[in-house]
Amino acid sequence: MSALELNQLHKCFGTFAALDDVSLSVPSGSRTAIVGPSGSGKTTLLRLIAGFEFADHGSITLGGQALVDGKQAVPAHQRQIGYVPQDGALFPHLSVAANIGFGLPGSSAAKRAEVEALLDRVALDRRLLQCWPHELSGGQQQRVALARALAQRPRLMLLDEPFSALDTGLRASLRKAVAQVLGDAGITTVLVTHDQAEALSFADQLAVMRQGRLVQAGPPLELYRHPEDAQTAQFLGDAVLLPAQLEDGLASCALGHLPVRDRGLRGTAQVMLRPEQLHLCEQSPGAVRGVVSETDFVGNSWTLAVRLNGAGVTVIRLRSQGVEVPGVGSEVYVRAQGLAHVVG
Ligand SMILES: Nc1ncnc2c1ncn2[C@@H]1O[C@H](COP(=O)(O)OP(=O)(O)OP(=O)(O)O)[C@@H](O)[C@H]1O
Ligand SMILES: [Mg+2]
Repeated sequence: MSALELNQLHKCFGTFAALDDVSLSVPSGSRTAIVGPSGSGKTTLLRLIAGFEFADHGSITLGGQALVDGKQAVPAHQRQIGYVPQDGALFPHLSVAANIGFGLPGSSAAKRAEVEALLDRVALDRRLLQCWPHELSGGQQQRVALARALAQRPRLMLLDEPFSALDTGLRASLRKAVAQVLGDAGITTVLVTHDQAEALSFADQLAVMRQGRLVQAGPPLELYRHPEDAQTAQFLGDAVLLPAQLEDGLASCALGHLPVRDRGLRGTAQVMLRPEQLHLCEQSPGAVRGVVSETDFVGNSWTLAVRLNGAGVTVIRLRSQGVEVPGVGSEVYVRAQGLAHVVG
């Protein structure tokens, strides 16, 4: 079991700072997901940890061993780190079986059994064993790359968007299977993903990057409910952001007077609610009147845009599970549940 410690990592390409003062602790055996917009430095960070790129300064420690400290660095092949890059990067001149079994010790029969077991774990058909990488789809290549990395029984697994080329159903089931395999083996894992739902469900810890900086890290639910700023709030899911006046533990905003966590805050602020905190209700004290301005059917639920009365042009978006929802132009009442979160 190996804990990963990143301390004040900095990496420039020419004059461009791809990573700026990144520090992060990944507890032994846990799973951390890194999310952030394209170009925010996620792959660069993984490449630094794997040893394919070198930091300008900062340190990396794995299981108490310094991998990088100033100019001293353990070479990539001695780090016992599994790395599944964004494009899979299989050896093109080796079959699927040889790719997965590359470097595995033991007799050829034992090796074959292990390769087959790994293929099962990533839900690939055994008939693919003799195929060449170019004969596989993008999603199949990603899964072979994953099996190859698992075969090495690494101390740390780095996954760069390993499920991006898969359809939704397979993506969810493979994510669960991989989480199980990594969990059973106690392998510390860092996953990069563009998929917020994937990050929230896969990880024990979520880290949000923006422009080379790590802006917030913590348990997924904590970040989802209490993002540090509006950008992070919107990055992690749909967010209703409203101007508010804070006093005595209440935020007065277009949705009424809502409780906030920090009762000491005062003055003008912006508050955030998640759509699932908002519900349509009957006319009653505390409910806010509005008019439906848009309806959008998104499969298992509806998204409604509601223009709130008496609040200028405030339009909020909420979800409704109903089979039918009020049409555009209908008068409705909305009630907010739980705390309003004050964003910086
Ligand atoms: N070898 C390199 N030389 C020059 N610039 C680089 C190099 N590698 C990365 N960069 C730059 O560093 C920044 C971060 O790149 P990186 O690949 O880490 O982003 P990312 O967060 O993984 O993005 P994506 O989500 O699109 O994969 C980008 O602006 C990129 O152009
Ligand atoms: Mg990347």
